[in-house]
Formats: sequence, C-alpha cells, structure tokens
Amino acid sequence: MKRLLIILLLLTLLSHISTIIADETSENHTKLLIRKRHIKLNFFWHNRFSQPNPTAVVVAQSPTSNDSPTGFGTVNVFDDPLTIGSNESSPLIGWSQGTYIMTDQNKYAALMAMTLIFVQGEFKGSTLAVLGRNELLSKVRELPIVGGTGLLRSASGYCMLNTFDKENANHYAVVQYQCDVFYKRYLESTTDFPFTN
Ligand SMILES: *[C@@H]1O[C@H](CO)[C@@H](O)[C@H](O)[C@H]1NC(C)=O
Ligand SMILES: *[C@@H]1O[C@H](CO)[C@@H](O)[C@H](O)[C@H]1NC(C)=O
Repeated sequence: MKRLLIILLLLTLLSHISTIIADETSENHTKLLIRKRHIKLNFFWHNRFSQPNPTAVVVAQSPTSNDSPTGFGTVNVFDDPLTIGSNESSPLIGWSQGTYIMTDQNKYAALMAMTLIFVQGEFKGSTLAVLGRNELLSKVRELPIVGGTGLLRSASGYCMLNTFDKENANHYAVVQYQCDVFYKRYLESTTDFPFTN
C-alpha cells in the first residue's frame, strides 16, 4: 500500500514532463544550454478555520467588514496542508503558507498571495510563489505562478483551483489545485556583473 502511494505520488508530481534542450546565444556569443520543462502538479489544499488546530485565522478587518456582504477588508493568514488525495489524511506533499485579503466590494473575491512548499518527491525543498485574484464562489479560478525557488527557480505558469468540498459548519474547505508549471534549468551563467566604484 505504501509503495503504491509513493508511485502515485511520483506519478502525480512527474506526469507530463516534457524536456526540450535549446541553444540560446548570449550577448557575448557564448552558447547557453537551457532545459525547458513543463510539468503538471495536482494536489488538494485544506483550509480549516474551526477549532481545534485551525490552519487559517482572521488577523485583521475593518470596522465595516462585518457589515459588508463580501467581507471587504478582512485579512486571513493560513498555513495549510497539501495532500495527494482529497481526504485530509491522504499523504502530505507540502504546505501552502500565505494570506488572502477580501479586496472586492461587490463580489466574494480575494487577493491571494502564497508560497507552495514541497516536502515530498522530486521537488522536495523547492517552492512556488502564487499571486492573484481568487473569486471564491466561482467553480474554477485561475491564479498565476509568479516565481519559484530551488529546482523550480524562475518558474512561471498557472494553477486552476476548483472547490472540491466545503463544510460550512466546520469552516473547512478542500480545493483541488491543478498547476501547469514552466521552468528552465540553467546549466551555465552567461555574464558576470561585477559591481565596482
Ligand atoms: C478520510 O479518510 C479517513 C481514514 O481513512 C476515513 O475515516 C474518512 O471517512 C475519510 N473521509 C472522507 C470524507 O472520505
Ligand atoms: C562570455 O561568457 C562566458 C561565460 O560566462 C565567459 O566565460 C567568457 O569569459 C565571456 N567572454 C567574454 C569575451 O566576455
């Protein structure tokens, strides 16, 4: 069973890898070898406000936020587990740490800024930075990937978010993330920029 889960994890993390080797000519005409990669990362995000052990908390709001139908001005901070499957007890692949701020006066929408931190698989120790607008009640939302670290350095791409399950009584939501990640593995630096005065 454990072996199966590990294989499943690897398949989830490594599905649809395509590698292209491209030559690019730098300013000083040195050949630079770049590996361009496109990967799909699929996982589930668990956000829980209820006690005990909430993974998300409200840290600030405007005096008018409670009267706003969209919670305008509310600031939430979260440290949420990411799992392979939709069940919270499914194997953990990482954490999502960040904030979402209710920024829309007319729709239930937030500015979301977070780091996805992978703790399993090929991308263990690497992170992705995700930033964008999240219209929480829409069926599918798209958030841009604006960067990354480690193996995912300079990543770009996008994540499609789909609310999988919601328990309003427990203030618990499960969101499916399907991310297309593009990154390059630079094998050689082209130019040094010495700072002299
Ligand atoms: C999640 O997994 C646990 C343990 O395997 C199980 O008891 C529970 O019913 C599952 N929850 C759902 C919603 O499937
Ligand atoms: C061009 O870049 C390469 C790689 O960094 C470096 O080794 C080389 O000295 C550079 N050549 C010139 C003329 O700047």
